[in-house]
Amino acid sequence: MQDRKIVALLEAQPSMQEITVRGWVRSFRNDRFIALNDGSTINNIQCVIEPENHDRDLLDQINVAAAVAVTGTLVESQGKGQRVELQATKVEILGTADPEDVAKTILSPKRHKLDTLREQAHLRVRTNTFGAVMRVRAILSYAVHKYFNEKGFYQAHTPIITGSDAEGAGEMFRLSTLDPKNPPLTDDGEIDYGKDFFGKESNLTVSGQLEAETYAMGLGQVYTFGPTFRAENSNTSRHLAEFWMIEPEVAFADLDANMDLGEDFIKYVIQYALEHCADDIAFLEQRLVNEDKQKPQADRSPMPLREKLEFVLKNNFKRVSYTEAIDILRNSKPNKKKKFQYLIEEWGADLQSEHERYLVEKHFECPVILFDYPKNIKAFYMRLNDKDDQGRETVRAMDILFPGIGEIAGGSQREERYDVLKEKMDAMGIPEEELWWYLDMRRFGSVVHSGFGLGFERLVMFVTGMGNVRDVIPYPRTPGNAAF
Ligand code: 4AD
Ligand code: MG
Repeated sequence: MQDRKIVALLEAQPSMQEITVRGWVRSFRNDRFIALNDGSTINNIQCVIEPENHDRDLLDQINVAAAVAVTGTLVESQGKGQRVELQATKVEILGTADPEDVAKTILSPKRHKLDTLREQAHLRVRTNTFGAVMRVRAILSYAVHKYFNEKGFYQAHTPIITGSDAEGAGEMFRLSTLDPKNPPLTDDGEIDYGKDFFGKESNLTVSGQLEAETYAMGLGQVYTFGPTFRAENSNTSRHLAEFWMIEPEVAFADLDANMDLGEDFIKYVIQYALEHCADDIAFLEQRLVNEDKQKPQADRSPMPLREKLEFVLKNNFKRVSYTEAIDILRNSKPNKKKKFQYLIEEWGADLQSEHERYLVEKHFECPVILFDYPKNIKAFYMRLNDKDDQGRETVRAMDILFPGIGEIAGGSQREERYDVLKEKMDAMGIPEEELWWYLDMRRFGSVVHSGFGLGFERLVMFVTGMGNVRDVIPYPRTPGNAAF
């Protein structure tokens, strides 16, 4: 007897060989037809039983959400909607599910709002939508490792607990084992972190970049793929307090090479998902079509999901300097008509997501890579350009902007010149005692190098068409919410 996954069975040829399928009941009709799902695919297998061959007691336990094992043979289906079905000889109840209790949960077979699903995050993966999203997420994660492995990158496991607040990427979560009610104090009455677990203040990391840079200086090309934490109070559909980031770092690569890598990488993983998640993406596409019907015309997706993904593969990302972008934005309709919340007046303004989305969705209508940002709005480690003809200072930064998402990745060429770096750190008040090890890199064989960070959830949002970052990670952590 063989135990088989539904994804394989639905592709298999009818056979007299007896097989067993284990899964959860999605529906049971006429005491005869069980739609069974085992998570291996969005599709259910139809199991046909002869009611007269089974006790009433057993039939009564074949309820939605119950776990069952069905044994039988794979036959050509008599009905519509499936090529093959399982002609069952035996049904075993593995785990019951009381219909009255099920009716109170999102497992009940009707349409539930995404908000309701979030409140039952432990059950939502058993719905079609979340099954599809989480399979796509897992396949994308695999594709990330596959891509870098094929390109000769090594994964670097950078620390999650860090003693330096160096990146300046966002607010950090502090970590402590001191008694919050009665912490040890210094003579000045401050909390004495010298007595804390690590003998100093420590935090959860906001990025593995700086450590990854040191590894690129030894292994040549590395990437990180791990959880990062930001205690910023941004309650948006694109921000999480805990999210997964992919950060490649490449020695001897300048910003152009970094842009090439970013574009090639994103296209590869999207292509991989299209090839390996076709059924899930087809389902999610239809889901979006249904969702769009409830929306006003202007808010609807301009393209069906698959077409949108193929569009990204077929077209070059448009590469535009910050200075060009500012000109476009300053002269744009929403700026002139004061429709932007933040109006663009001067060169040097930081771009908000409304501006990024205007550039991508309205002006260029394709993914855009913005580069060479003003020095003052970017991090200390980005390489300083020569002043332009108007004496303005920019750094070799890049942001990759995607339709419907905004910033999906951000990176830069790094400042490899010791003196310039040191001067910038001093100017920004970054203490050398914190980052002496980072400065050391510029003393021992410093080279041109570059990297970027891509927010994995934003990528999953793009590929699945989900509109809220809370719906593409199993247990979202956001301000005010760390349930489960
Ligand atoms: O732009 P960020 O802050 O860049 C860095 O952390 C650099 N150290 C990257 C590097 O050069 N190695 O973050 C990178 C990406 C963003 O483009 C965005 O996609 C994602 O991480 N991101 C978030 N995703 C979800 N929730 C949040 N709160 C995020 N903050 C950033
Ligand atoms: Mg950024």
